[in-house]
Amino acid sequence: MKSETVIASAPAKVILFGEHFVVYGKPAIAVAIDRRVYVKVGIREDRKLYIRSLSLEISGYFQNEKFVLESGKESAEEKFEPIRVVAEKLLEASNKDVGVTIEIDSQIPVAAGLGSSASVAAATATALNHLLNAELSREEIFRVTFEAEKLIHGTPSGIDPAIATYGGAIIYRKDEGFQPINIEFSVPLIVGDTGLERSTGSLVAHVKQIRNAYPEIVNSIFEAGEKIVEKAVQALKEGDLEVLGRLMLINHGLLFAIGVSHEKLDKLVHAALRAGAYGAKLTGAGGGGCMIAIAPSKLVDQVISSIEQAGGTAFSAKINVEGARIEN
Ligand code: MEV
Repeated sequence: MKSETVIASAPAKVILFGEHFVVYGKPAIAVAIDRRVYVKVGIREDRKLYIRSLSLEISGYFQNEKFVLESGKESAEEKFEPIRVVAEKLLEASNKDVGVTIEIDSQIPVAAGLGSSASVAAATATALNHLLNAELSREEIFRVTFEAEKLIHGTPSGIDPAIATYGGAIIYRKDEGFQPINIEFSVPLIVGDTGLERSTGSLVAHVKQIRNAYPEIVNSIFEAGEKIVEKAVQALKEGDLEVLGRLMLINHGLLFAIGVSHEKLDKLVHAALRAGAYGAKLTGAGGGGCMIAIAPSKLVDQVISSIEQAGGTAFSAKINVEGARIEN
């Protein structure tokens, strides 16, 4: 067992196409972006499972099934529960009866559609795997991360844990897993954040409700989503940014139709288009959180300022980055 601390990181993700439809077995495309969460872990002699989030300014520990809040809000226990699950799985896999300290430092906005919870879980599992010599494979790290996601989001498809663990660019299907997509050119991608936090679980539940009410209509929206993904894979391989932009707008319209957009998201999408983006759409669960846009390289700065003038915060993102990895 290593006595030093271990640092691991995992990337944020954006879903380019197919969120929500992916929960119903349709394909979706996700890419890892260059914002990461860093998790530092170390062994403790007192058997506590101590967790501190520098970004959320909360800390506390689990011991003998009880949670003790050290600093921050009452909701800390709920926020830390998935991390506790990850830590216990890793302790079990390594057969070690020790305490651990887990310190989280994130560059990823929380509850914004960029997969921050999956990234924290994947980075924690990767760091503890190394620290405790648990020897889990990447596939097993993905499984542990997925278990943690189920606690937070109810019935997630698994796309967030897959991209946080493996990185790159993937086409994902719930029942078949994922295939990497080879993207050989740069995609000028802009992420705009409405600043509105929302819950993935309740948005997924909303889609279920609307599908139960109008099954034929909503199923045909899902079918259209699948066709978009097929064409988008081709466009990504060929580097056709204009086609990608057009497909993004259609995808945004479908997400609007099933009630997961938000006035502020629509406003940022229009702001991006006005500044010359090829296309834009909400990303992730919607209802607030983030939108994305693809633009000609020379217009990226203009698109960013237009989104900011419309009340969002925006940044340009590099895609196709590495998945969960050890940093030290
Ligand atoms: C969340 O990033 C994407 C959703 O499709 C939910 C999921 O696939 O688990 C909304």
